[in-house]
Amino acid sequence: MTTAIANTTAPTSVVSALYLGTKTLHTEAERSGIIRDLLRGEASRDGYILLQRNLLPAYRALELGLERHRDTPALAALAAYRLDRATPLQADITALCGGDFAGIPLLPAGEAYAARIAQAAEGDGERLIAHAYTRYLGDLSGGQILKRLLAEKPGLQPDELSFYDFPGHADLAALKADYRSALDKAGALAANPQAIIEEGSTAFSLNIDLSWAVQNALLPAPAAAE
Ligand code: HEM
Repeated sequence: MTTAIANTTAPTSVVSALYLGTKTLHTEAERSGIIRDLLRGEASRDGYILLQRNLLPAYRALELGLERHRDTPALAALAAYRLDRATPLQADITALCGGDFAGIPLLPAGEAYAARIAQAAEGDGERLIAHAYTRYLGDLSGGQILKRLLAEKPGLQPDELSFYDFPGHADLAALKADYRSALDKAGALAANPQAIIEEGSTAFSLNIDLSWAVQNALLPAPAAAE
């Protein structure tokens, strides 16, 4: 016999579900490729430049997507934050390269990450919630730790680390709490929250792939076989 309450599930927080769904992948990300090197103070300036250059298209796609959905009910409040990381990111890369960064390669993993976000922006755009969660809450969490580490080694300057600053938000803990609640409200309005939760795992996997790809690209080319 079924009971009437069998189908009534308590409304769940999409952020809590994303957190739980990506917990293992978060640990994997911290231990992957260039991210692991950065955490251990072993990454080079060139490695960091290559990582940031390959994140730039992903941020552009995310921010373009959110802007495109500024009037979509589920996404309007998130879009209104206009966290705009692409502009400081591009400025940092330019400063890090001493000018033009045209010679820094866009790796297939960087292209794939941006392409996935652009795809998520199609239709109702709700899967952008997962990408906003992954990048912006990440930047407000581990990103702040990374900023301190990067200033120590390889000794990056403030104008090379502006990506981690959120002008207009003096209290980053408050911004993070507010943004988390905006993500939850967006998730509550979404037609298909499950798709957002699944997209969160994809977003983390794409970051892990990129982290390894950047580290691999920095390895010396193997000697040609005889
Ligand atoms: C560089 C290595 C990393 C470190 C040291 C780190 C550290 C942390 C810490 C300490 C938190 C918890 C903050 C809190 O609860 O207030 C956190 C949360 C988070 N991190 Fe990371 N992280 C790293 C890499 C990443 C990566 C690569 C991603 C994804 C691109 C990521 C995405 C997130 C997200 C989305 C949260 C928010 C979790 C939530 O509260 O739901 N992190 N990180």
